[in-house]
Amino acid sequence: MNAPFNKHANNAATHPAFLSIWDIHAYYGESYIVQGISFNIHEGEILALLGRNGAGKTTTLRTIARMDNPELQRGEIWLDHQPLHQMKSYQASAHGIALVPEDRCIIPGLTVEENLKLAQIAPPMGWSIERVYDLFPRLRERRKQDGITLSGGEQQMLAIARALCRDIKVLLLDEPYEGLAPVIVQEIAKTLGIIRDQGITTVIVEQNAVAALKLADRAVILDSGMVVYDGSAEEVLNNEKLRAEYLAI
Ligand SMILES: Nc1ncnc2c1ncn2[C@@H]1O[C@H](COP(=O)(O)OP(=O)(O)OP(=O)(O)O)[C@@H](O)[C@H]1O
Ligand SMILES: [Mg+2]
Repeated sequence: MNAPFNKHANNAATHPAFLSIWDIHAYYGESYIVQGISFNIHEGEILALLGRNGAGKTTTLRTIARMDNPELQRGEIWLDHQPLHQMKSYQASAHGIALVPEDRCIIPGLTVEENLKLAQIAPPMGWSIERVYDLFPRLRERRKQDGITLSGGEQQMLAIARALCRDIKVLLLDEPYEGLAPVIVQEIAKTLGIIRDQGITTVIVEQNAVAALKLADRAVILDSGMVVYDGSAEEVLNNEKLRAEYLAI
């Protein structure tokens, strides 16, 4: 692995972490996108997965969630001793992986509450709707509103809330702050901190790298489908060279 900034050499083989990504290679058709990515994440950590446009962040999240596309051709993904690499997406989901995609996937024609109730149909059930409303009071206020008419920030909250209605262990967020005003970004970041305190492990992909790094415990930076940094989020914030080279900030 070409990893000039790799402070913590990957040790998935000897010390299995809560979520271990081990030398994964993934393809869209003939296109070789994820080119041998490895990283570990500990239970209850927030990890920022960063990199320029096209670096392979979304593809990595989709691979972890075991979506049909991309195809994982080599490598292993272990969640709490379960071999996700041998699973389909519905099985990974049943084992506690939740992917909140960039487009948030709110179901039109359903109210906020119906969106949440629908998420609760799939066992095992997670948080109660009341507990979710305590976390997102804005959703309680708008529970009868059609989900698709919510503001961008509220839709993001609903997408996260829906994930919590299932019994999840890992939350994979693809650009949750996209298009949101700084004050809403702060509000969501605060909530993600509370979710971490409840023991949920989070991987956050963000173009707003500074906001993600302020929230995260650790950071992994991708470039051309490979890991170029794996270490503390704070170090990235303080390392101008790293930021300029791989994040253009
Ligand atoms: N369905 C697809 N079929 C073929 N190639 C794809 C597909 N989706 C993405 N790619 C390619 O895979 C590479 C990585 O894309 P990916 O979406 O993972 O990047 P990203 O880091 O999430 O970028 P961004 O910051 O723009 O969201 C890109 O070159 C992209 O063109
Ligand atoms: Mg992306």
